Amino acid sequence: MKMPARIAPSILACNLARLSEECHAALEAGGDFIHFDVMDNAFVPNLSFGAPLLKSLRSDGFSGFVDVHIMANDVDRLVEDCAEAGANSITIHFEATSHVQRALVRIRSLGCEVGLAVNISTPVEAIEYVMDDIDMLLVMTINPGFGGQSLIPAALPKIEKARQLIDNAGRAARIQVDGGVKVGNIRTIADAGADTFVVGSDFFSAPDYRERCAAFRAQLA
Ligand code: DX5
Ligand code: ZN
Repeated sequence: MKMPARIAPSILACNLARLSEECHAALEAGGDFIHFDVMDNAFVPNLSFGAPLLKSLRSDGFSGFVDVHIMANDVDRLVEDCAEAGANSITIHFEATSHVQRALVRIRSLGCEVGLAVNISTPVEAIEYVMDDIDMLLVMTINPGFGGQSLIPAALPKIEKARQLIDNAGRAARIQVDGGVKVGNIRTIADAGADTFVVGSDFFSAPDYRERCAAFRAQLA
Protein backbone atom coordinates (compact mmCIF):
# COMPACT_ATOMS: atom_id res chain seq x y z
CA MET A 1 0.00 0.00 0.00
CA LYS A 2 1.61 3.19 -1.17
CA MET A 3 1.27 5.94 1.45
CA PRO A 4 0.81 9.69 0.93
CA ALA A 5 4.06 11.22 -0.29
CA ARG A 6 6.47 12.67 2.23
CA ILE A 7 9.41 14.96 1.50
CA ALA A 8 12.42 14.85 3.83
CA PRO A 9 15.01 17.61 3.43
CA SER A 10 18.52 16.27 4.17
CA ILE A 11 20.44 18.74 6.28
CA LEU A 12 23.76 17.41 4.97
CA ALA A 13 23.19 19.95 2.18
CA CYS A 14 22.12 22.91 4.33
CA ASN A 15 24.18 25.69 5.85
CA LEU A 16 25.25 23.78 8.96
CA ALA A 17 26.46 26.97 10.63
CA ARG A 18 22.79 27.93 10.81
CA LEU A 19 21.38 24.46 11.46
CA SER A 20 18.46 25.39 13.66
CA GLU A 21 17.17 28.11 11.30
CA GLU A 22 17.64 25.81 8.32
CA CYS A 23 15.60 23.03 9.97
CA HIS A 24 12.78 25.42 10.83
CA ALA A 25 12.86 26.89 7.31
CA ALA A 26 12.81 23.44 5.69
CA LEU A 27 9.66 22.39 7.55
CA GLU A 28 7.97 25.79 7.18
CA ALA A 29 8.60 25.50 3.43
CA GLY A 30 6.59 22.28 3.38
CA GLY A 31 9.10 19.55 4.20
CA ASP A 32 7.52 16.74 6.24
CA PHE A 33 10.49 15.85 8.41
CA ILE A 34 14.24 16.35 8.73
CA HIS A 35 16.68 13.74 7.42
CA PHE A 36 19.82 13.74 9.61
CA ASP A 37 22.83 11.89 8.15
CA VAL A 38 25.28 10.37 10.64
CA MET A 39 28.55 9.21 9.01
CA ASP A 40 31.59 7.66 10.68
CA ASN A 41 34.29 7.75 8.00
CA ALA A 42 34.40 3.92 8.14
CA PHE A 43 31.11 2.52 6.88
CA VAL A 44 31.13 5.41 4.39
CA PRO A 45 34.16 7.44 3.27
CA ASN A 46 33.01 10.66 4.94
CA LEU A 47 32.52 12.12 8.38
CA SER A 48 29.47 14.23 9.10
CA PHE A 49 27.97 14.70 12.55
CA GLY A 50 26.39 12.68 15.32
CA ALA A 51 24.11 12.64 18.33
CA PRO A 52 25.68 15.69 20.06
CA LEU A 53 24.59 17.93 17.19
CA LEU A 54 21.05 16.58 17.39
CA LYS A 55 21.08 17.22 21.11
CA SER A 56 22.10 20.83 20.50
CA LEU A 57 19.38 21.22 17.90
CA ARG A 58 16.82 20.04 20.47
CA SER A 59 18.26 22.34 23.15
CA ASP A 60 17.94 25.18 20.69
CA GLY A 61 14.19 24.54 20.57
CA PHE A 62 13.71 22.57 17.36
CA SER A 63 10.86 20.15 18.01
CA GLY A 64 10.16 18.91 14.46
CA PHE A 65 10.30 15.25 13.46
CA VAL A 66 13.87 14.03 12.85
CA ASP A 67 14.78 10.77 11.13
CA VAL A 68 18.41 9.86 11.79
CA HIS A 69 20.06 7.92 8.95
CA ILE A 70 22.98 6.11 10.54
CA MET A 71 25.74 5.33 8.03
CA ALA A 72 28.12 3.91 10.59
CA ASN A 73 29.35 0.59 11.92
CA ASP A 74 28.91 0.91 15.66
CA VAL A 75 25.15 0.70 15.31
CA ASP A 76 24.19 -0.55 18.78
CA ARG A 77 25.80 2.31 20.67
CA LEU A 78 24.82 4.99 18.16
CA VAL A 79 21.18 3.93 18.22
CA GLU A 80 21.07 4.55 21.98
CA ASP A 81 22.88 7.90 21.65
CA CYS A 82 20.61 9.12 18.86
CA ALA A 83 17.42 8.13 20.66
CA GLU A 84 18.63 9.87 23.79
CA ALA A 85 19.54 12.97 21.77
CA GLY A 86 15.98 13.29 20.48
CA ALA A 87 15.57 11.22 17.31
CA ASN A 88 11.97 10.41 16.35
CA SER A 89 12.95 7.76 13.85
CA ILE A 90 16.22 5.88 13.33
CA THR A 91 17.31 4.17 10.14
CA ILE A 92 20.21 1.72 10.21
CA HIS A 93 21.96 -0.06 7.36
CA PHE A 94 21.48 -3.77 6.73
CA GLU A 95 25.19 -3.97 5.88
CA ALA A 96 26.40 -2.31 9.07
CA THR A 97 25.67 -4.98 11.65
CA SER A 98 25.54 -8.78 11.83
CA HIS A 99 22.48 -8.60 14.07
CA VAL A 100 20.04 -6.48 12.14
CA GLN A 101 16.88 -7.78 13.80
CA ARG A 102 18.21 -7.16 17.28
CA ALA A 103 19.15 -3.58 16.39
CA LEU A 104 15.71 -2.96 14.85
CA VAL A 105 13.94 -4.23 17.96
CA ARG A 106 16.19 -2.05 20.10
CA ILE A 107 15.23 1.06 18.10
CA ARG A 108 11.55 0.27 18.65
CA SER A 109 12.11 -0.29 22.36
CA LEU A 110 13.70 3.16 22.59
CA GLY A 111 10.41 4.65 21.38
CA CYS A 112 11.52 5.55 17.85
CA GLU A 113 10.12 4.62 14.46
CA VAL A 114 12.27 2.04 12.74
CA GLY A 115 13.95 2.26 9.35
CA LEU A 116 16.16 -0.23 7.53
CA ALA A 117 18.40 0.91 4.66
CA VAL A 118 19.83 -1.25 1.89
CA ASN A 119 22.78 -0.23 -0.25
CA ILE A 120 22.48 -0.41 -3.99
CA SER A 121 24.01 -3.90 -4.35
CA THR A 122 22.12 -5.44 -1.43
CA PRO A 123 19.15 -7.54 -2.59
CA VAL A 124 15.89 -6.05 -1.39
CA GLU A 125 14.82 -9.52 -0.22
CA ALA A 126 17.13 -8.86 2.74
CA ILE A 127 14.13 -7.30 4.49
CA GLU A 128 11.85 -10.30 4.05
CA TYR A 129 12.24 -11.76 7.54
CA VAL A 130 12.35 -8.48 9.43
CA MET A 131 9.23 -6.89 7.96
CA ASP A 132 7.45 -7.03 11.30
CA ASP A 133 10.21 -4.94 12.77
CA ILE A 134 10.30 -1.98 10.37
CA ASP A 135 8.17 1.06 9.59
CA MET A 136 10.25 2.14 6.62
CA LEU A 137 12.56 0.59 4.05
CA LEU A 138 15.22 2.94 2.71
CA VAL A 139 16.33 1.97 -0.79
CA MET A 140 19.60 3.82 -1.36
CA THR A 141 19.68 5.33 -4.84
CA ILE A 142 23.38 6.28 -4.62
CA ASN A 143 26.44 4.89 -2.85
CA PRO A 144 26.10 6.65 0.50
CA GLY A 145 28.63 9.14 1.80
CA PHE A 146 28.09 12.31 -0.18
CA GLY A 147 25.31 14.56 -1.36
CA GLY A 148 25.04 15.85 -4.90
CA GLN A 149 25.48 12.50 -6.69
CA SER A 150 23.34 11.17 -9.54
CA LEU A 151 20.73 8.50 -8.97
CA ILE A 152 21.87 5.03 -10.06
CA PRO A 153 19.25 3.83 -12.60
CA ALA A 154 19.35 0.21 -11.34
CA ALA A 155 17.63 1.47 -8.20
CA LEU A 156 14.35 1.94 -10.09
CA PRO A 157 13.54 -1.75 -10.75
CA LYS A 158 14.72 -2.40 -7.20
CA ILE A 159 12.12 0.02 -5.84
CA GLU A 160 9.48 -1.80 -7.91
CA LYS A 161 10.59 -5.10 -6.41
CA ALA A 162 10.50 -3.63 -2.90
CA ARG A 163 6.96 -2.37 -3.49
CA GLN A 164 5.83 -5.86 -4.58
CA LEU A 165 7.51 -7.50 -1.62
CA ILE A 166 5.90 -5.17 0.91
CA ASP A 167 2.48 -5.20 -0.76
CA ASN A 168 2.44 -8.99 -1.16
CA ALA A 169 3.18 -9.29 2.53
CA GLY A 170 0.26 -6.97 3.26
CA ARG A 171 2.48 -4.49 5.11
CA ALA A 172 2.20 -0.74 5.40
CA ALA A 173 5.93 0.03 5.51
CA ARG A 174 7.00 3.14 3.70
CA ILE A 175 9.58 3.02 0.91
CA GLN A 176 12.05 5.85 1.19
CA VAL A 177 14.66 6.80 -1.39
CA ASP A 178 17.85 8.73 -0.69
CA GLY A 179 20.34 10.14 -3.17
CA GLY A 180 20.04 12.04 -6.41
CA VAL A 181 16.34 12.84 -5.99
CA LYS A 182 15.52 15.95 -8.02
CA VAL A 183 12.47 17.78 -9.32
CA GLY A 184 13.27 16.26 -12.72
CA ASN A 185 13.18 12.60 -11.59
CA ILE A 186 10.95 12.44 -8.48
CA ARG A 187 7.90 11.45 -10.55
CA THR A 188 9.69 8.49 -12.12
CA ILE A 189 10.87 7.37 -8.68
CA ALA A 190 7.35 7.70 -7.28
CA ASP A 191 5.94 5.72 -10.20
CA ALA A 192 8.38 2.91 -9.35
CA GLY A 193 6.76 2.70 -5.90
CA ALA A 194 8.55 5.05 -3.50
CA ASP A 195 6.48 7.28 -1.20
CA THR A 196 9.11 9.02 0.94
CA PHE A 197 11.75 11.20 -0.68
CA VAL A 198 14.98 12.48 0.85
CA VAL A 199 16.02 15.66 -0.91
CA GLY A 200 19.41 17.25 -0.21
CA SER A 201 21.19 19.37 -2.78
CA ASP A 202 18.17 19.94 -5.01
CA PHE A 203 16.26 21.33 -2.02
CA PHE A 204 18.85 23.42 -0.17
CA SER A 205 20.39 24.88 -3.34
CA ALA A 206 17.06 26.57 -4.10
CA PRO A 207 16.86 30.32 -3.51
CA ASP A 208 13.31 29.79 -2.20
CA TYR A 209 12.69 26.54 -0.27
CA ARG A 210 8.91 26.96 -0.37
CA GLU A 211 8.88 27.24 -4.15
CA ARG A 212 11.21 24.26 -4.51
CA CYS A 213 9.12 22.12 -2.19
CA ALA A 214 6.01 23.05 -4.18
CA ALA A 215 7.84 22.06 -7.36
CA PHE A 216 8.57 18.61 -5.89
CA ARG A 217 4.96 18.20 -4.79
CA ALA A 218 3.60 19.34 -8.16
CA GLN A 219 5.49 16.44 -9.76
CA LEU A 220 3.82 14.04 -7.35
CA ALA A 221 0.26 15.33 -7.87
C1 DX5 B 1 24.23 10.65 1.33
C2 DX5 B 1 23.08 10.95 2.23
C3 DX5 B 1 21.97 11.73 1.64
C4 DX5 B 1 22.34 13.03 0.98
C5 DX5 B 1 21.47 13.12 -0.24
O1 DX5 B 1 24.86 9.49 1.68
O2 DX5 B 1 22.54 9.78 2.81
O3 DX5 B 1 20.92 11.92 2.58
O4 DX5 B 1 22.14 14.17 1.77
O5 DX5 B 1 21.87 14.22 -0.98
P1 DX5 B 1 21.35 14.50 -2.45
O6 DX5 B 1 19.87 14.70 -2.39
O7 DX5 B 1 22.10 15.77 -2.81
O8 DX5 B 1 21.75 13.34 -3.31
ZN1 ZN C 1 20.75 10.01 4.06
